[in-house]
Amino acid sequence: EKGGYDYFMLKEIAEQPKAVADTLLGRIGTDGRLTLDELRIPDQVLREIDKVVIVACGTAFHAGMIAKYAIEHWTRIPCEVEVASEFRYRDPIMDDRTLVVAISQSGETMDTLMALRHAREQGAKVLAICNTNGSTIPRESDAVLYTHAGPEVAVASTKAFLTQLVACYLVALYLGQVRGTKWGDEIFGIIRELGDMPKHVEEVLGTMEPVRELARSLADARSVLFLGRHVGFPVALEGALKLKELAYMHAEGFAAGELKHGPIALIEDGLPVVVVVPSPRGRSILHDKIVSNIQEIRARGARTIVIAEEGDEAVVPYADHLIRIPATPTLLQPLVSTVPLQVFACELATAKGHEVDQPRNLAKSVTVE
Ligand code: F6R
Repeated sequence: EKGGYDYFMLKEIAEQPKAVADTLLGRIGTDGRLTLDELRIPDQVLREIDKVVIVACGTAFHAGMIAKYAIEHWTRIPCEVEVASEFRYRDPIMDDRTLVVAISQSGETMDTLMALRHAREQGAKVLAICNTNGSTIPRESDAVLYTHAGPEVAVASTKAFLTQLVACYLVALYLGQVRGTKWGDEIFGIIRELGDMPKHVEEVLGTMEPVRELARSLADARSVLFLGRHVGFPVALEGALKLKELAYMHAEGFAAGELKHGPIALIEDGLPVVVVVPSPRGRSILHDKIVSNIQEIRARGARTIVIAEEGDEAVVPYADHLIRIPATPTLLQPLVSTVPLQVFACELATAKGHEVDQPRNLAKSVTVE
């Protein structure tokens, strides 16, 4: 049942290229436009949406954070994202022109379910992004976009996360398509590039041996920090979450620009710091800023583990360990940059002797508030 792998988590990490491909399947038409007939929310309604609110928990929340960057950039619709357990308690502002997107692998997470019920009571339209057919969250939503990751058994979410990202990109691009925003050409280019992502995820998986080796060498580290900017920030949070839940180790993710506002005090000799570097093409200002962040932490003794695009030479002098990922459009990078972090956490936890499929104190679906 584990298909020759020692753990479900390893099997599910390996299944990611297929999971991503399956989630795209049938949704990109031969004319290069998206067809999301299953959405069931009429295009006319989608054209009138004036706010998107994303609610989710844990890893799914990180997918939602990334979705916000994509939705606002590609559609210019204001987008908020919030952990579901906080959402309804602050009396959030919604009406019938609000699209609430509830992201959940299991479709049974109680906090997310309660958030969407609250949203519907306020008259908002709710779209579920879900991996489990017929589960409660899609049943109670106005529409659902299923991710096709297949059953995810390991408690730590991996392939479901990547497919949640794909679904979020599809929603963002579809909103852009029906609304015909000024980003039209960019949107069609991105739809094409999305089709190449399964291949890029496969490429990353083929280069993970040095990451495993590095993870084993860090089994005795007391703490690991993760830094990112832009969509690399939620990826940093996701890398830290995986390490906490699997290796029971102190790990924290930060927006790299926040370093100087406090966390830089944590940097001490030998502290491993993973940095997710945005593409040097695209928004190059972001790239330059993070290169100086890497210099700053290295000057204070950090052991830098740098995840950077193929061909990015600027980071080489400051990387104690360099993990290469394929070049992709900036907003799509999380589909490849997350993968080494999953492998890293899984291997480090295994090296510490932990059971990665069933971490202590955690359940696969959290059906209590
Ligand atoms: C972490 C993890 C959890 C879930 C969260 C939401 O690896 O799996 O953080 O992402 O409990 O679960 P779903 O997506 O089922 O609502």
